[in-house]
Amino acid sequence: MQQDMIVVLDLGSEQNTLIARDVRALGVYTEIHNFDISADEWKALPNVKGVILNGGPNRVVDGKEIDASAAVYNSGLPLLYMDHKDKRGETWPETETGRKKILKKFVFDVCKAAPNWNMENFIADQVEQLRKTIGNKKVLLALSGGVDSSVVAALLIKAIGNQLTSVHVNHGLLRKGEAEQVVEVFQKQMHANLVYVDAQERFLSKLAGVADPERKRKIIGAEFIRVFEEEARKLSGVEFLGQGTIYPDIVESGTKTAKIVKSHHNVGGLPEDMQFTLVEPLKMLFKDEVRACGVALGLPENMVYRQPFPGPGLGVRCLGAITRERLEAVRESDAILREEFDKAGLASKVWQYFTVVPDFKSVGVRDNARCFEFPVILRAVNTVDAMTATIEEIDFKLLKKITDRITHEVKGVNRVLYDLTPKPVGTIEWE
Ligand code: XMP
Repeated sequence: MQQDMIVVLDLGSEQNTLIARDVRALGVYTEIHNFDISADEWKALPNVKGVILNGGPNRVVDGKEIDASAAVYNSGLPLLYMDHKDKRGETWPETETGRKKILKKFVFDVCKAAPNWNMENFIADQVEQLRKTIGNKKVLLALSGGVDSSVVAALLIKAIGNQLTSVHVNHGLLRKGEAEQVVEVFQKQMHANLVYVDAQERFLSKLAGVADPERKRKIIGAEFIRVFEEEARKLSGVEFLGQGTIYPDIVESGTKTAKIVKSHHNVGGLPEDMQFTLVEPLKMLFKDEVRACGVALGLPENMVYRQPFPGPGLGVRCLGAITRERLEAVRESDAILREEFDKAGLASKVWQYFTVVPDFKSVGVRDNARCFEFPVILRAVNTVDAMTATIEEIDFKLLKKITDRITHEVKGVNRVLYDLTPKPVGTIEWE
């Protein structure tokens, strides 16, 4: 590890991530650790130049005020005490500018840390570490084509080349062109050892006639693991499993003093007789850093800067029991919406946007004859954390253009509607 590190020690603050991000913005690497870090854990941290003791409203645990462990006090490193007592109604002791000034002074003047946190150094470090950890063993990775798994794949390919086997399961619920892009980028451009599994028919037949959203989700999730497992069993001598775990997954799963925000399950229920050691090279990166890493590794921007996409994919946007015809209508209308948003400069401004096809028809006229076809519902929302969301106020001209294209280009669709519902009361997805 080449890079200097500042440790943010969690002494009950709700602002650990904020402070860690502030320091990384100064070009210095940070990690958040628990207040009671042991001497051994402490020793394993490379290049620590200073510690921020980050106190706050959760400082009292089980009636006792917590303090940093002896390992921290014995380190002899510069310490900065920050205490954000917002629970007692007091405001932050510093303004944002003030806080950043304090941190800058501490990091550079007191700790003398070098601003050497950047993607080139991160990648070089990880490549070295991955080679050391993996040796000549094999690694398996489920490559969905999403941001995190794509960046992990690119990083592993750089580090260990064909010792990595990536498995891309096409469950038939991906957006238009997605599976093709995975094959193009990883197999053709990066020459990865990619197993492409066309499981479209298998998923469609498992889902046939299933209308309940929760059952659909469960079937898609379970079947995905089954297909991946089958592929894994065909390979021999695999000791490691690559995972796209990122830092918020770890931080949000709860530190010792924070309440659990949500638990993340990244290890999709692989059977117990298949024992892998996890390789999680992105686990210290925030989302924007993951994207920057992907770009630095040569992944296309549209793969790295894309909107969130749910695991069950278009399956939860083809409402009720999925049919081939309506699934195709979802995929084609989604492609049109994305194309038009891209042309209008909205693609990177709107958080998430997609189309939904319900399972009822309405009457219309086409070429002077009655037609009885499905509607398409447009959804475009903005949010910070997906817990609440507001709708995007799409320009009327653009809405009309999208409507015109969808009703003329997508087979079996004669109406387009725009969903104006914020979350709450609507969720972002329809199922
Ligand atoms: P809702 O519909 O709950 O969605 O307002 C919030 C965000 O989560 C995404 N989402 C999912 N992501 N697996 C995922 O990986 C899922 O089953 C799933 N369901 C919803 C949704 O797209 C939105 O960004």
